Order: sequence, then C-alpha cells, then structure tokens
Amino acid sequence: MHNLSIVILAAGKGSRMKSPIAKVLHNICGRPMLYYSIKAAKEISDDIIVVVAHQKEKVISRINELFQEITFVVQDAETFPGTGGAMMGIKPKYDSVLVLNGDMPLVTPESLQGFVGRDADITMSVLDLEDPSGYGRVVISDLGVERIIEEKDASNEEKLIKHVNAGVYSFKRSVLEKHLPHLSNNNAQAEYYLTDIIWMAKSGGLHIEPLFVKEEQFKGVNSKSDLAASEVIMQNRIKEYWMQEGVVMQLPETIYIDEAVEFKGECIVENGVRITGKCLIENSHIKAHSIVEESVIINSDAGPLSHIRPQTHMENTHIGNFVEVKKSTLKGVKAGHLSYIGDAEINEGTNMGAGVITCNYDGKKKHKTIIGKNVFIGSDTQIVAPCTIDDDVMIAAGTTVTAKYVESGVLVLSRTPVKYIKNFFYNFFNLEKK
Ligand code: UD1
Ligand code: MG
Repeated sequence: MHNLSIVILAAGKGSRMKSPIAKVLHNICGRPMLYYSIKAAKEISDDIIVVVAHQKEKVISRINELFQEITFVVQDAETFPGTGGAMMGIKPKYDSVLVLNGDMPLVTPESLQGFVGRDADITMSVLDLEDPSGYGRVVISDLGVERIIEEKDASNEEKLIKHVNAGVYSFKRSVLEKHLPHLSNNNAQAEYYLTDIIWMAKSGGLHIEPLFVKEEQFKGVNSKSDLAASEVIMQNRIKEYWMQEGVVMQLPETIYIDEAVEFKGECIVENGVRITGKCLIENSHIKAHSIVEESVIINSDAGPLSHIRPQTHMENTHIGNFVEVKKSTLKGVKAGHLSYIGDAEINEGTNMGAGVITCNYDGKKKHKTIIGKNVFIGSDTQIVAPCTIDDDVMIAAGTTVTAKYVESGVLVLSRTPVKYIKNFFYNFFNLEKK
C-alpha cells in the first residue's frame, strides 16, 4: 500500500457505446469493466474514490456488490460536464493522486506501480499508436509534455501525432487544487477537460513527465468494438493464469472463461467450452462445446455438448451429450444422453437412460423432483414434478411417472398394448409380399 489516493472517473455517458447501459457497467468476462480498474487500484491504495453521475444508482449498487470501502463522489455533470468536471468535488486523503479513467479495464497493479513515487508534479501515461484515432494527442518536447489536444479540437496536422493520452495521470494534490477551479469549457465539446491541466501546469513552470505505457494494459474502451478487443485480451490473461495453475485447455483460443470461475485439482477443458458466472470446477473434465453457468462441478465429467445451467451442483457424476441440467444437485449420477434435469435432487448410483425428462413446470410454477439412490430410469421416461422416488426403484422405458411418491423396490411401468399387423407394409405400398 502506498500513500496514494486513486480517483476513478466513471460518470460519463459513454455515448459511443450506443447503449442504454452505462459504459462502465458493460461486462468484460462477466464483470462490469469498472470492476477491473477498482480491483487493480485496491491492490496499491486504501483510498479509492469513484466519480459517478450517469446512472449513478446502478453503478453504485453494482460496485457495492463487488467491493467494500469505496468512496463514491457524485459529479455535477449538468453544470460541469467532462473529465475535469468529474474531478471538481473530490477530496483525496493523500498528497499524491492517481487518476484513472473508468473505461480502462486492462490496467494491472504492476502497470500502475510505474506512476507511484514519482518526483514530477504530473506524470501522465502516453501510448504510441499507429492509429491514434479516438484519443487525445500529446505534444511532447525536450522539456517534457507540453499539452494534450482532444481529437475533436485537433487540426488535421495535430491529428497525425501518434503520441496519445492513455488516461492515467499522477498529480500532486496541490496541482489539482490550484488548477481545477480555472478550467474552462471553451472547446468543441463544451466540456471541462482534465487534460487542460497539462498546459496550465506547464505555463505555470511545472514539469510534466510522460510515462510510456503499453496498449495491452492501457487501452480505452469507447465502442462495442473496443469492448470486444479488450475482452479478448482479458480472456487470454484468465486462461493463461489457469493454465499456469495446472488446468489443461485444448485449443484455448476457442474457450471462454469468466473472471469469477475457479478451478481446483486436475481439470481438463476441451475446445469450444464456455464457463460463466461464479463456478467451481474441481478434478473434472468439461468436454467439447459444453456450456457451464454458475455451477459447482466436482469429480465429474460433462459433455460433449452439454448445458449445465445455474445453481447446479454435481459430484461424482457423468453428464453426456445433449443433456441440460438446471438448479439440480446430482451426486453419483449418470445421465449420458439427451435429457433435461431441472429442479432435481438425485442420488448415488442412479442411472438416467436416454431422453429422461423431469417435467418441472406446470405452466404456473416450478416443482421439484427428488430421486433416491440406485434408481434405474429407462429411456424416454418423463417424471412429472413434484415427485419423490425412493431408493432402489426401476422405471421402465417410455413411462410417464405421475405419482407424487414412489416407494423403494417398486417397478414403475406404463405400457399401452402393442399391435403387430402382418404384411401391413406391403399392402400399404401395394408391393408384392416376400
Ligand atoms: C479521455 C481523454 C483523452 C484520452 C482518453 C483515453 C479527456 C478530456 N480526454 O478521452 O485525452 O486520450 O480519455 O482513453 O479527459 N467521465 C466522467 N465524467 C464526465 C465525462 C467522462 O467521469 O463528465 C469519465 C468516463 O466515465 C470515462 C472517463 O471519464 O470513464 C473518460 O471519458 P471518455 O468520454 O471516455 O473520454 P475520452 O473521449 O475517451
Ligand atoms: Mg474513453
């Protein structure tokens, strides 16, 4: 921890996202993008201030679900719009203030360390980009940074500058206190630009040091296409981390894993798998093209092509292809083919044949199916919930179980008599009999 306050600007509308959702709440690997800069900030500082305005209630409540001890400051964005306006109401605890844009999810604690403990009055992040469009251009001379020109205010010549402002700055608090009250909104966007502090400080004789950074950590998200590009980088970090921790991944570029997913023990994830939400996968094998959402999978295998939906807990279980499981607890169960298991609790040794369906919904409500140990369920069985089946039961193929309770030892069987009509095929098609 350093004696450093961190301000994260998250009050903007993000109009270039063309979305009713606030920009900083757009998800990257299952977390709002703002989560990542706060997480990095919390590793180096104990004074985190997040500036909000647009959709402030939603932003505050989402962040409060994820973190404690965040100070929120509401920007008066009507009177003082812009990143400079966002800084006007803040009261940092420390003399050094690190400012981050909230639309930079790729920053890491290590990449922020470079801004800590600098002597300069201002240290600002600079990216060198082949295509600088969308960013403020940074004019740098032998004497350090001179000024930042926002793209909308830049001349054609200035637009050719390839040094851009990445949006992270460390200020001495006194510099902010001195210059923030003098910002004006006399620019193309009629906004109060934080970036104007650079030329103001420079004219006042202060030194502004450029710190060259990498796009891999300092890329800003302004559009849905930036969002997708940042998610690719974040995905690679997540998968690399888990592979280093010992998870086997086949064709990792085809696998999608949320930030909240946790692996333990020896796990194999095959190609095309998607694992989202808070999941624990332990000593398990997730086979090709399966989807796992918010579930716990221990000593089990699932797929290929299975769908494990939220609130599933399975242990010592085998789930095969085209099986959908939802909100169910499966312990020592086999369901190898083409089944739907929803709102169920199923116990050791129970085998579900191909096409077994728990009919959990009656058109109004969801109901539970509870199945004991060593139940043998024949193919194409429907179990109409609510239903409790005790241990040691057999259910014949094609049965519809409508009882609320089936006791141990029973065979459940529903059959209509089958007719075998001789030569029907030949007669129907007017063919000669063989
Ligand atoms: C800003 C910089 C630009 C830099 C780029 C880096 C300014 C004036 N420009 O531009 O030089 O190259 O970031 O990504 O700072 N915000 C508020 N209140 C507001 C407006 C914005 O809190 O009134 C927040 C946004 O939520 C966002 C951040 O500030 O997280 C940056 O705003 P954005 O509109 O994305 O600025 P850029 O145009 O990207
Ligand atoms: Mg931006």
